[in-house]
Amino acid sequence: MRKLKAWGQSSLGPLWALPTLLLAMAVSGAADVPTYLWQDTATREWLTCARCPPGTFVQQPCRRDQPTTCGACPPRHYTQFWNYLERCRYCNIICGEHEEEARQCSATHNRACRCRQGFFAHAGFCLKHAQCPPGAGVTAPGTPSQNTQCQPCPTGTFSATSSSSEQCRPHRNCTALGLALNVPGSSSRDALCTSCTGFPLGPGEPGTEECERAVIDFVAFQDISFKRLQRLQQALGEPEDQSLPPSREGRTALQMKLRCRLSELRETRNVPLLTQLLAALRAAGLPGLQRSVLARFLPAN
Ligand SMILES: *[C@@H]1O[C@H](CO)[C@@H](O)[C@H](O)[C@H]1NC(C)=O
Repeated sequence: MRKLKAWGQSSLGPLWALPTLLLAMAVSGAADVPTYLWQDTATREWLTCARCPPGTFVQQPCRRDQPTTCGACPPRHYTQFWNYLERCRYCNIICGEHEEEARQCSATHNRACRCRQGFFAHAGFCLKHAQCPPGAGVTAPGTPSQNTQCQPCPTGTFSATSSSSEQCRPHRNCTALGLALNVPGSSSRDALCTSCTGFPLGPGEPGTEECERAVIDFVAFQDISFKRLQRLQQALGEPEDQSLPPSREGRTALQMKLRCRLSELRETRNVPLLTQLLAALRAAGLPGLQRSVLARFLPAN
């Protein structure tokens, strides 16, 4: 172990500066080294000994004719302050789960930990940064000390996913894209545009596919109640889905199922989709929606 001698009355800098310091001490006898009272074990005499600087400990207390001997802290041990410890402290902080080292154990500092990427400190634990649900966007990403900040997406913007980074984005502007607005955007869905302005007169003519796609979205994403969506689902030949809760999530899931069902029906080419759909709307007792589908997709009628 390396031995340092802390002479009575000076401060010790980094180890490389030692010879200079020792010289300086001998000359100036500066008065800023902290001391402590020590009773010599042999003579019972009370002495004022110099303390040892950070990174060292008292290897041998001073005697009447000899200054304090300081020893460097061994690996994995430290002293942070001027001290008269008989041994250095063990670096006893262990970084836990979801933590990483913010400062390594060194001769002058205990190890320090912080929450790792994606976590923040709360009540002594590292918790995962929250995700903002669909319909809410991130206003401030989480930091090691703070959770993600979310806000409901303001009118005209949306966020479609649960995310700890995604902000609310403006709805697509169909007009600016030279298209017609098919389904207005919501806080959790972008606006849907279409080039369809009405079904072509004969099936299979150009434009039919785009109009079929558009009518599927138009119906599936109507802003109608959960109950009505369920009635439509039944009228389209699917059993009522008891597992879906009538919540926002349940409604979104139901809309996605309707969309799938309508896409399936589009593939059965013997009856045109629009015909099947109008029949289903009638059977489901949704005359209002039936009228708006007609007005929109068969404007000539
Ligand atoms: C969409 O674009 C059009 C034409 O560029 C513009 O006049 C209109 O204000 C835009 N609408 C929105 C909601 O930004």
